[in-house]
Amino acid sequence: MTVDWAAVRADFPILQREIDGRPLVYLDSGNTSQKPTQVIEAMNEFQRTSYAPINRSAYRIAAEATERFEGARSAVARFINAPSADEIVFTKNATEALNLIATSWGGANLRAGDTVLLTHMEHHANIVPWHMLAQSAGIELRWVPLTADGQLDVGDLDRLLDGVKAFSFTAMSNVLGTITPVAMLCDAARRAGAISIVDACQFVPHNVTDVQAWGADFAVFSSHKMCGPSGIGAVWGRMELLDAMPPYIGGGNMIADVRLDGFTCAPVPAKFEAGTPPITEAIGFGAAVEYLESIGMHEVRRHEMELTRYALDTLNERYGDDITIHGPDNIEVRGGVMSFAFRDIHPHDISQVLDERNVCVRAGHHCAKPLMRLLGVNATARASVYLYNDRSDIDELADALDGASDIFGVL
Ligand code: ALA
Repeated sequence: MTVDWAAVRADFPILQREIDGRPLVYLDSGNTSQKPTQVIEAMNEFQRTSYAPINRSAYRIAAEATERFEGARSAVARFINAPSADEIVFTKNATEALNLIATSWGGANLRAGDTVLLTHMEHHANIVPWHMLAQSAGIELRWVPLTADGQLDVGDLDRLLDGVKAFSFTAMSNVLGTITPVAMLCDAARRAGAISIVDACQFVPHNVTDVQAWGADFAVFSSHKMCGPSGIGAVWGRMELLDAMPPYIGGGNMIADVRLDGFTCAPVPAKFEAGTPPITEAIGFGAAVEYLESIGMHEVRRHEMELTRYALDTLNERYGDDITIHGPDNIEVRGGVMSFAFRDIHPHDISQVLDERNVCVRAGHHCAKPLMRLLGVNATARASVYLYNDRSDIDELADALDGASDIFGVL
């Protein structure tokens, strides 16, 4: 299938915006993605015609809202090839999803002295919940190191997994762009008797995802990074595990019965969805999935590989030793997230100067401070691409970097 990428770009109204007569160059999709008209309109239409509480009321629009909410859950399950929509638990975002797993699965299954394996390239969302469990329950953490080019160093993986109860790792680094060998890591975890938890929030928006082919136990991701609204994310988990886990928060919707002397839980996924959920956001999440499916995730990945190759070559050829782009150069094992250091200019200054030309990049520690320490920096500037970017965005970035040198007097 040939995709008309110019038409895809035209689906995103914000990209038509000009500031001071210049177009917007949005290169911060690793942070959050822009939204196509199809998603914006699906949410508008739902609000205008069918908004109502779900799971609670007998009138017709409530039934309609419930059906559409559950339809979104089915779409999300289909997108990652989950065996059942009931294995999709809606959360606020991927951070809450990881906290849910650490608190609920970890709280029930880990005891003082048990070990969880993480990697040096994790986002704080996949570190801090485990540190919290270390503080409250005395679990221990172990870390998979990195190779010089920013891939996981799996040479010693079996030894690192020895005695481990859970291995929680990213499918794609939000700093290095590294795509990790998820199926191999899940397999190694299983052989060691550990469960595998995949932080897939940078991976799912950009790749074909098949949690069954991975052989994972849990995966988490969020809607706002994949053309959907913020405020909703998901845990996928194997039913056997979800079923045995205690609830994460208590309240309405998650109970089968409540008495003066206790309560019983509703079945999964309701058990983990206390309170009124983000209803319109779920409709938007489902619409985002349908939008991405209409383009095809193989095509999205191909487009981004081409664009990433172009970006790495353009920046390296133009700036040589003046630019250091972190992470692997091989685009087979990296996505379109490019963190870089440029001519000793502070990343925040780079970001500010780029903004003068409407080029939006993220600067900072990217919620990955252990990785920053390993790289020997406090922060990086980071450009990240998505399906709506094209070569003109990369050219703008490269041109705008010249402006940063001029302003800070660095050659
Ligand atoms: N985790 C997101 C990022 O890396 C917010 O920018």
